[in-house]
Amino acid sequence: MTASTPLDRRLLRVLGGEPLLPPPIWLMRQAGRYLPEYRATRAQAGSFLDLCYNPALAAEVTLQPIRRYGFDAAILFSDILVVPDALGQSVSFREGEGPRLDPLQTPADLSRLRADATRPKFDRVFETVARLRQDLPRETTLIGFCGAPWTVATYMVAGRGTPDQADARLWAYRDRASFQALVDLLCDVSIDYLSGQVRAGAEVLQIFDSWAGSLPDAEFARWVLAPTQRLVTALKGRHPSIPIIGFPRGAGLKLASYVAATGVDGVSCDTSIPLAVMRDELNMRVTVQGNLDPLLLVIGGAALAARVREILGALSSRRFIFNLGHGILPETPPETVAALVDLVRGQRSQ
Ligand code: CP3
Repeated sequence: MTASTPLDRRLLRVLGGEPLLPPPIWLMRQAGRYLPEYRATRAQAGSFLDLCYNPALAAEVTLQPIRRYGFDAAILFSDILVVPDALGQSVSFREGEGPRLDPLQTPADLSRLRADATRPKFDRVFETVARLRQDLPRETTLIGFCGAPWTVATYMVAGRGTPDQADARLWAYRDRASFQALVDLLCDVSIDYLSGQVRAGAEVLQIFDSWAGSLPDAEFARWVLAPTQRLVTALKGRHPSIPIIGFPRGAGLKLASYVAATGVDGVSCDTSIPLAVMRDELNMRVTVQGNLDPLLLVIGGAALAARVREILGALSSRRFIFNLGHGILPETPPETVAALVDLVRGQRSQ
């Protein structure tokens, strides 16, 4: 660890290409049910979406993990399904069941989506971002996000999370034009949504493509690469210095093509990506982020410490952001997260 590295702007510096020791750290789903203070605020808010649209409470839950752990970045508290909700496709979250949407079943259902009606709901999210930029410590970078068009479309078509995304894939095979229309609409709306977050104070953007892994290569090019490239190009056109991280979960052997085609500044790697691939194949082009198994954070102890050492051994001299390979699990003990931060920052030998 170089004691002289200023704490300031560490995530932005690494995304700009500068390796830092210790690497910056933040965790996907760092605000969430594993924290008792999140559960308390969530109960106060009413429904999950009420929490997402309440700027004071959404800012509060964003700040909770920063107060506890001092992560280098805060991620806006919201959800990728705010976009379909704002488009008028009713979204609800049932306890223990995950999200439910009124599914789009035929091309005619696309006419239910109202791209011109998103503003009131988006404005609430932008207000959360603006509050956060004021309330966060200066050294904490604020990350805005959205779901990638493909992943959001899979929820809109099936009405829920599915193991294989078959409904969206079938639609895309059967009727390419109407599926393209849906993806194009999501691109337009997501560009406005992310651009509004940047104007309100987001300093980095992350695009979550959680279901990128289910597509054969030609479909991957059409539904993952092309829309993501469109988002990146449009956002960098409007905000030339905004760094963008892509998270094409499950992309595996297609990760290098994702990095080459989309123009992202950073790539978040899921748990299955070998450290050697992150170091030797991806890192010469972009900053890499990842990829601790969230289950090790449930277990803690020596198994966690050993894997953290392996990850740091492979990547800590590179442009690298320490993160998980997917979100924190609700059963994670908060003390283990504190232990992880200490391990990464070199404050514990184990
Ligand atoms: O990371 C953060 O702390 C910021 C907030 C955030 C949430 N969801 C809060 C949330 C972010 C960045 C997301 C992204 C998201 N949402 C993704 C992409 C990342 C991934 O996990 O693959 C996806 C696919 C969703 C859709 C979604 N939202 C699902 C499938 C679920 C249910 C699963 C679950 O964990 O309950 C949600 C709900 C959700 N989003 C919760 C949180 C904290 C839990 C809801 C609750 O408090 O009851």
